[in-house]
Amino acid sequence: MTAVIEYNKSLQAYNTFGIDARAEVFVEVHTETELREALRLDIRPRYILGGGSNLLLRKGLKGLVIKNSIGGRRLEREFPHSVYIASGAGENWHQLVGWCIEQGYGGIENLSLIPGTVGAAPIQNIGAYGVELREVFHRLEALHLDTGQKRIFRAKDCQFGYRDSIFKRALKGQYCITKVVLKLSKPHRHRLRLSYGAIRQTLDAQQVHPPTIQTISQAVIAIRSSKLPDLAQLGNSGSFFKNPELSATHFYRLKAQFPHIVSYPLDNGGFKVPAGWLIEQCGWKGKRIGNTGAHARQALVLVNYGGATGEEIWTLAQQIIASVKQRFGVELYPEVNVW
Ligand code: EPU
Repeated sequence: MTAVIEYNKSLQAYNTFGIDARAEVFVEVHTETELREALRLDIRPRYILGGGSNLLLRKGLKGLVIKNSIGGRRLEREFPHSVYIASGAGENWHQLVGWCIEQGYGGIENLSLIPGTVGAAPIQNIGAYGVELREVFHRLEALHLDTGQKRIFRAKDCQFGYRDSIFKRALKGQYCITKVVLKLSKPHRHRLRLSYGAIRQTLDAQQVHPPTIQTISQAVIAIRSSKLPDLAQLGNSGSFFKNPELSATHFYRLKAQFPHIVSYPLDNGGFKVPAGWLIEQCGWKGKRIGNTGAHARQALVLVNYGGATGEEIWTLAQQIIASVKQRFGVELYPEVNVW
């Protein structure tokens, strides 16, 4: 075995909430060969860890935690209008975005500064500021944890949805993603996405005309930095809950009662309501309970003020779910993975 096996390992540095839970056995893999070796250890259950930025560790983990650090990044194919970029699953997402922008490849600039790894991006179909990963996704490669067999997944195989894919549902816990390939545009084919109001406002305020993939990325970085707590300063996992999607009937009933409710129409006739708004209305924004709380600038982000346990954060999440349910009759579901 070339990778180092560690026992009773603290995962504090491996989850952005900064929770000090332990893994019974831990191994970091840098290549597909090391991953296969780790799987041959045959220790169960097995957990695949990426950047740990969408994860709540409620307790210590029995079994094997495999930290996926499979690296590598290259231009796989080039066409007159597009390129295919292949990246190891363990690469840092934001670094990949920066590299693509430097090369002049467009399509993921709106997804700048999202923490986590490239391999985790398709699992929850990361999205921000009017763009979702599925729009640039070409294929991924993954190893089946039991058989070690490699499988290629195209976009249709992944069943992408809002913060959702087959890897969170039917195939949950069955595969380890090793490589992701994105199809990006060359400069004369960039389709700039400015529909998200805050991007346009930021560019206008800076008098940036015309926008480019670089300036959009800078605007997104500025917006994210102004709203979301810095992971280096305050443990958190980004949005803790998904934004609920309501039927038209449910929404109009709520709107009659709460005329100021914020909403976005959906293609299916329903409405998406920002969970951050619902949580704020219930009085949670900036509220601190022990070592945890809902962030003062974005109530959807739960934070660890230092020393919080996963169970404390989970208890806060349950209290928030209950109060939103009581006031609005709306059920919130965690966006983060809970282990
Ligand atoms: N709002 C409040 N109070 C709050 C927070 C939000 O009233 O405390 C309302 C405001 O009206 C605001 C609206 O909610 O205009 C939307 O807020 P924001 O633009 O911050 O976006 P979000 O819906 O809260 C989603 C994603 C984020 C993503 C942003 C931008 C989810 C669960 N979250 O947040 O993704 O960065 O849009 O596209 O869909 C993540 O997944 O971890 C994440 C940060």
